[in-house]
Amino acid sequence: MKLCMIGTGYVGLVSGTCFADIGNQVYCVDKDINKIKKLNSGISPIYEPGLDELIKNNFNAKRLIFTTDLNKAISASDIIFICVGTPNKKGTLNVDLSFVYKCVREILLHTKNKKIIVTKSTVPVGTGDEIEKILKKKKKLFSIISNPEFLREGEAIRDFRYPDRIVIGSNNKNEFNTMKKLYSPLISKGAKFFTTTRRGAELIKYSANAFLATKITFINELANLCEKSGIDVEDVALGIGSDSRIGSRFLRAGPAYGGSCFPKDTKGLVSAGEKFKTNLSIVKSVIKSNHDRVNLLTKRVHKILGNNLKNKKIGILGVTFKPNTDDMRDSTSLKMIPYYCKKGAKVTYYDPSGEKFEFKKLKNCEFKKNINDTCKDTDLIILLTEWDEFKSLDFKKLNKKRNFIIYDLRNLYNPKEMLNKKIKYFSVGRPNFN
Ligand code: UDX
Repeated sequence: MKLCMIGTGYVGLVSGTCFADIGNQVYCVDKDINKIKKLNSGISPIYEPGLDELIKNNFNAKRLIFTTDLNKAISASDIIFICVGTPNKKGTLNVDLSFVYKCVREILLHTKNKKIIVTKSTVPVGTGDEIEKILKKKKKLFSIISNPEFLREGEAIRDFRYPDRIVIGSNNKNEFNTMKKLYSPLISKGAKFFTTTRRGAELIKYSANAFLATKITFINELANLCEKSGIDVEDVALGIGSDSRIGSRFLRAGPAYGGSCFPKDTKGLVSAGEKFKTNLSIVKSVIKSNHDRVNLLTKRVHKILGNNLKNKKIGILGVTFKPNTDDMRDSTSLKMIPYYCKKGAKVTYYDPSGEKFEFKKLKNCEFKKNINDTCKDTDLIILLTEWDEFKSLDFKKLNKKRNFIIYDLRNLYNPKEMLNKKIKYFSVGRPNFN
């Protein structure tokens, strides 16, 4: 099939490349000429394991075309995917749909024959209806479908190839067959093909992310209780997760959830609730609880190092919101590092995805190129993001200082082993902080 992906951000680039890889002709369009130049010379603008190679293969096979020419891409395609950003409007819960609507107006301008328009960007309930209104002049030329994306950063290619389900929302049942044909290579490998109304699909995306965020927040609050009542939160997660009605995934206690989706989509769902005069009190509490957690875990360092952080040396391992991505959005490190610097601590950090501009201007904060230099002679090592390379470290070799402390926010290490090695060790949801 011939496809056009508008927007070569995370969703557009990964799904466009993967669609090409299952045999489609895909035009990836972006206004950013530098991005397109990079892509045409084989450089991916985002960090995603396996993506570079997949782009190269499909580009060389001429199934993947990168262009700024929207007119050409639309004319050549049967299905147009809108993959542009839908951020929160600054300081509000509302979703900014201006990029989506701008895109729709451009599609209208360039379309001469029948097209299917698919929203892959996460859009609030009723966005498809609004798109229809914009297209009303040439209404008969278009079908508007919602096909939300559930890719996780760092696992995106696997998630595309082996999705739990493919959700298609359309008010025109005839279009289900076209979408089924497009996804048939994945359906034949076992992916569930789920169809519903357009509004239904729009709400499914927000609900899935808000539910997962709720699960994380729930276990994080239980972790606080476990710390005070002498229980290991991992036993609780295992004990409840073994109930198939609950499920074991997304029950890892740790820092506040972050990234490009959960923080944005929980707010977007509350905003949709307000629009339809429905109080989504659970989601509101999740947002607040997650916000409080950033402060709680940041300030907890005073319980470890005392009130005065002046000249304390703190080494931080991992600053992205999760491993296998270079994404810093809503990462706990954004709050933690500036706070410690402000309090006079000397912070070093290392992340496998490289130095972060967010910390460049901070006094007392230094990026180190390896784990060794980050941990050397520090008073406290904070494990913030669970990259594979942090999983089996010999801290006694890394840090020669007497009585250095480890604060493990991902429960990556075994407390008994730490005890045996006589390392003072704090983690999350275990009886440390009573
Ligand atoms: C998420 C959804 O999983 C994906 O389906 C959607 O399309 C986009 O949003 P992503 O943000 O890439 O994906 O990462 P994910 O792996 O879901 O993690 C999100 C956050 O939750 C991270 O901060 C992660 O550290 C945290 N998390 C996840 C936990 O704290 N505990 C868990 O058990 C799982």
